[in-house]
Amino acid sequence: MASNPTSPIGIFDSGIGGLTVAKAVMDKLPNEDIIYFGDTARVPYGIKSGQVIQRYASQITRFLLQHNVKIILIACNTVSAVARETVENIAGKTPVLDVIEAGTKTAIDTGSNSIGVIGTLATIGSNAYENALKKKNPDIDVISKACPLLVPLAEEGWIDNEVAMKALDIYLSPFRNNGVRTLILGCTHYPLFKSSIRTLFKSHPLEIIDSADAIASSAKTALKTLNLVNPSTSDGRFQCYVSDRPQRFQELAERFLGRKIDHVEIVDPD
Ligand code: DGL
Repeated sequence: MASNPTSPIGIFDSGIGGLTVAKAVMDKLPNEDIIYFGDTARVPYGIKSGQVIQRYASQITRFLLQHNVKIILIACNTVSAVARETVENIAGKTPVLDVIEAGTKTAIDTGSNSIGVIGTLATIGSNAYENALKKKNPDIDVISKACPLLVPLAEEGWIDNEVAMKALDIYLSPFRNNGVRTLILGCTHYPLFKSSIRTLFKSHPLEIIDSADAIASSAKTALKTLNLVNPSTSDGRFQCYVSDRPQRFQELAERFLGRKIDHVEIVDPD
């Protein structure tokens, strides 16, 4: 069955962090239905090889297509960095957006010529952000830093305590000393640290780019352009699927989504 304006938006991530994208989409497109898949059985992706991540991403893309989604949003920066093409090949005519293209565009629009990027080991190791930024403007200076401890800290809810502030201070020190004016949060979990980063950079003007907001804006534009905006005037439905521990997902969801989820279904995408 071909998708149409009333079909849902498909969003996926390695786990719970992509709910920051779901939240941004709900804010910008409140009448759209959303199908979210979080690969909680196999998270974290950020420390895995490209080949493995591509295999997981293919399975999840097929799952979303079975639900007749009208557009696919890759909420996971790691998947965006190493498996965007794989997702696109499987999606065929269904449009695909990813957080890296969206975040990069917003960062370039700030006009800054010195941009910082933080992300998982896989994202930073792939140079995907740096390549995307330099493709748009070869003169831009890009300083990247992998911050692997921030994902577990965010899941633990440690976003502004002593340990979190110390970790952020150490990870972000290269940006303070290099005149970086724009910082891309290149990981689903990092928007949770936004206000702690602002506190640390009080005396250093820094524009923080949250790729969740950026991809939600791109999705809105894409749906309009493709005549795929849902004409409904009521709140969209949010359907949530995970590959393991739905209960734990439900408990943590509020932290990322800002509201409770009623029901989470378990599926095996393999
Ligand atoms: N969702 C991942 C990302 O945005 C972070 C968690 C993981 O490593 O799987 O890169």
